[in-house]
Amino acid sequence: MIDETVRRALEEDIGTGDVTSLGCVPEERQASGRFLAREAMVVAGLELLESIYRQRGGVDELTLLKRNGDRSAEGDVLATVRGRARTLLECERVALNFLQRLSGVATAARSFADAVEGTGCRVLDTRKTTPGLRELEKRAAAAGGATNHRMGLFDAILIKNNHIAAAGGVRQALDNARGAGLPIEIEVRTREELREALEAGAEHLLLDNLTPEEAREWVREIGGRAKVELSGGINLANVRAYAEAGADYVSAGAITHSARAVDISFRLELEDSVADLERLRGEFPGRKIVHYPKLDSTMRAAAGLEIGAVVLADEQTAGQGRHGHSWHSEAGAGIYCSVVLRPAPLLTLALGLATADAIAQSTGVVCDLRWPNDVMAGGKKVAGILVQLVDGAAIAGIGINVNQRSFPAELVGEATSLRTASGREVSPTDVLMALLRAVDAFAAEPSENILRLFTHASSFAAGRRVTVALPDGTITGTTAGLTAEGFLVVRKDDGTDTLVIAGGVRAAGS
Ligand code: BTN
Repeated sequence: MIDETVRRALEEDIGTGDVTSLGCVPEERQASGRFLAREAMVVAGLELLESIYRQRGGVDELTLLKRNGDRSAEGDVLATVRGRARTLLECERVALNFLQRLSGVATAARSFADAVEGTGCRVLDTRKTTPGLRELEKRAAAAGGATNHRMGLFDAILIKNNHIAAAGGVRQALDNARGAGLPIEIEVRTREELREALEAGAEHLLLDNLTPEEAREWVREIGGRAKVELSGGINLANVRAYAEAGADYVSAGAITHSARAVDISFRLELEDSVADLERLRGEFPGRKIVHYPKLDSTMRAAAGLEIGAVVLADEQTAGQGRHGHSWHSEAGAGIYCSVVLRPAPLLTLALGLATADAIAQSTGVVCDLRWPNDVMAGGKKVAGILVQLVDGAAIAGIGINVNQRSFPAELVGEATSLRTASGREVSPTDVLMALLRAVDAFAAEPSENILRLFTHASSFAAGRRVTVALPDGTITGTTAGLTAEGFLVVRKDDGTDTLVIAGGVRAAGS
């Protein structure tokens, strides 16, 4: 039911598309937003947010900070959301309309319930609801402390004077209605009808349009033989007087038909990024560049995206390294990106070359390459590359330590950053721009060029004493060049060669 009500509201507002957001806001732009109470209220309808955003493609994070029925003060944040800016913008009005209206109903219900507190009388809602919103408004009324009366004409019998006339009298109306097996309430308008109803065994009476004084007399006469509901003209100013007349219930249409929509606002905040996304997108028009402030891994987010797409994160909570290791991805300090590429021979080596080239171009730091593609500065790793094949595409995950000042204990001695290597703060945007250019250029190079360039750029390609961790043990030897496939040849001290296809290569003695 909720989904259908939400669907209709979204359809009514967004229709074939939010042309303003589509026209102005870049597709990949991420944002976060906060629903803010701008006055004191009782909250209702927050559960609709999940359905609203889900039906428009979903969001990355939705946090409800209040529960239905909670009282909120002015300035309280009711919920926060993070996702595509376009989604947040196109859903804003529908979300606010529901929240403002339903919280208005809950707030009104709360005022009525508070006004009768201590009298033992319960406040009932009515069928005077907004067409199409019956269930939601009744839920909101209950969240505010009212008791739900019948949902509609189908779930309880309420015999009014026209029904009595058409049935041929109070007793006949009651007798006829009993067959349905539903709760029965009957309206009595005269003392005569009251006596008839009580004699006929009525259990629930409705008294309409009495003054509080009249109501007190009627209640005295009824003397507890039936439950009594009072209705008609009941408002916040007089509800307590009616409750004190001894009624079991007072019903107030005002809870729904006169509830004022409360003031709730939506504050959108565009995500800040480690890199200047505008500049990046301007430099690479037509390229899909998706940015996340925080992500488990860009590898996962890039899977399934088009060739050329780039996923950037300011922080990774589960950064993946090669050989099942994790990649330290401190917030805001490094470049964590995945680029979707066409698979190509020697792509792994090409990406190491591209990363080293980008670093040199943007910072002047000249790096070594440790086979196959660890990018080293001053003997420590400054960047790492992980390539995964997913659905026919190569996902190139590149992690560059940019402005880290320190590393966790287990990485001290292993890792360094461009900041440490260059002695100054480095612009992640400059490095990224150079990186994307270099990745495109090196990925297009023929294999023989990659082999030649790698052999030239890497002190590990030939003549270097290394240890290599292989599945069946560690070997030590001297590197003796690359094969045409890009494998590393290691000449052991007994003169035999081992072809290293995959393995952890380290400088011997390090
Ligand atoms: C290595 O072990 O040397 C490879 C490290 C690759 C890290 C990058 S950071 C961006 C991308 N997302 C990941 O989860 N890993 C890669």
